[in-house]
Amino acid sequence: MLTVLNELENNEDLYGYARVPEHFDRIEYGRFRNVYLYITEKCQLHCGHCYMGQRLVRAKFIPLAEVKHILQIWRKLGGSKLSILGGEPTLHPDFITICRYAKTIGYEKVILNTNGVGKALTILSNMEPEEFSYIQVSLDGGSSKTHDVIRGPGTFRLAWKTLESLTARKFDTRIICTVNRKNRLDCLELIPKCEEIGASLVKFHVFSNIGNGQENTDWAMAPRDWIEFYEELEKIKKDHKIQIWYQPTYANRENIHRFTQQGYRGCIGRTLDRISIFPDGRAYVCSYLFDTAQNMFQMVDGEIEVNRKENEFELFTKVLTKPSCSTCKAPKTCLGGCPAEELSMGTSSCKADSEIIPVCRLWKSDY
Ligand SMILES: C[S@@+](CC[C@H](N)C(=O)[O-])C[C@H]1O[C@@H](n2cnc3c(N)ncnc32)[C@H](O)[C@@H]1O
Ligand code: SF4
Ligand code: SF4
Repeated sequence: MLTVLNELENNEDLYGYARVPEHFDRIEYGRFRNVYLYITEKCQLHCGHCYMGQRLVRAKFIPLAEVKHILQIWRKLGGSKLSILGGEPTLHPDFITICRYAKTIGYEKVILNTNGVGKALTILSNMEPEEFSYIQVSLDGGSSKTHDVIRGPGTFRLAWKTLESLTARKFDTRIICTVNRKNRLDCLELIPKCEEIGASLVKFHVFSNIGNGQENTDWAMAPRDWIEFYEELEKIKKDHKIQIWYQPTYANRENIHRFTQQGYRGCIGRTLDRISIFPDGRAYVCSYLFDTAQNMFQMVDGEIEVNRKENEFELFTKVLTKPSCSTCKAPKTCLGGCPAEELSMGTSSCKADSEIIPVCRLWKSDY
């Protein structure tokens, strides 16, 4: 033992000297890079699927001074990509000021989500393409036949007019389509139509039956139907110039490896990469939990307080030791599955169907 110690003492390079490290493993500042700010709950519409639910009736909004403060705080915590939404964000009395302010305090990307109806077109005619990274207009079907069933009579025509105007004025304009059993057949029509007018991307995601969606549970798509839908997208995307994108949400045993190869490792909530802040101060990491009181934080008088009752972070991590399924089919990939499924559907998708593996709704694939 003594010999070993002597050897070590004589060897300057082993330890005890502050050597310059080979590389600096510098710690990056910042979590919550994606900030989703719901500046108002007010909306002209009452869409049958809307996760805002009772918030639409309450119609609370965040006064300008408070919006500025919230933007500053989350910017300091790491926010760089800001999505402005609501309700309908263009109904906020200070909408334009808010969009411009975010840029001045360093948000690199400012994105708008709009229903494209009401005064949206008039308000946006006072803004320039450079003021947004892109604008997402919601179209829930390829025609008024389906879109208007979900969003209300005449809304497809109005949203389309806004879309046409934005693309003509060279805004990077994208379409976001929530797919359900009512519109799944004709929403593919959006692809050629939007390509023709110069939109850059159509994004499809599956309806989550929360909020108003709880009144329309018959609109919910079975995981297998959704997988069939996105496999169809895979086939047709090569024939189009417009980009087509979807959130997988579910995989089957045969295709889960494609997501694993892209680095999918279960609930993305655990990364704390995003935060959604509502006018009542509740701030959530996971959008699938918006109906619950499991928000991670509560903003009180401008301060961020951790929700000390059961909060979503505990939910995200609990499945690491107690998986939300009983017969795990892809343990190294799903790492316990999606804990929100049990809360919103009463069971996990993989328990309900042995061929299905849940893929975090917030996870973005390369496809
Ligand atoms: C809540 S809206 C707010 C912005 C704006 N009012 C609009 O409709 O685009 C944001 C997006 O969430 C989508 N959405 C609402 N409820 C949903 C649900 N239950 N499942 C999936 N997407 C939903 C909407 O269709 C819309 O594209
Ligand atoms: S989806 Fe958008 S437009 Fe429809 S009710 Fe919800 S907030 Fe309003
Ligand atoms: S959708 Fe499910 S898996 Fe994804 S962050 Fe939410 S709880 Fe986690």
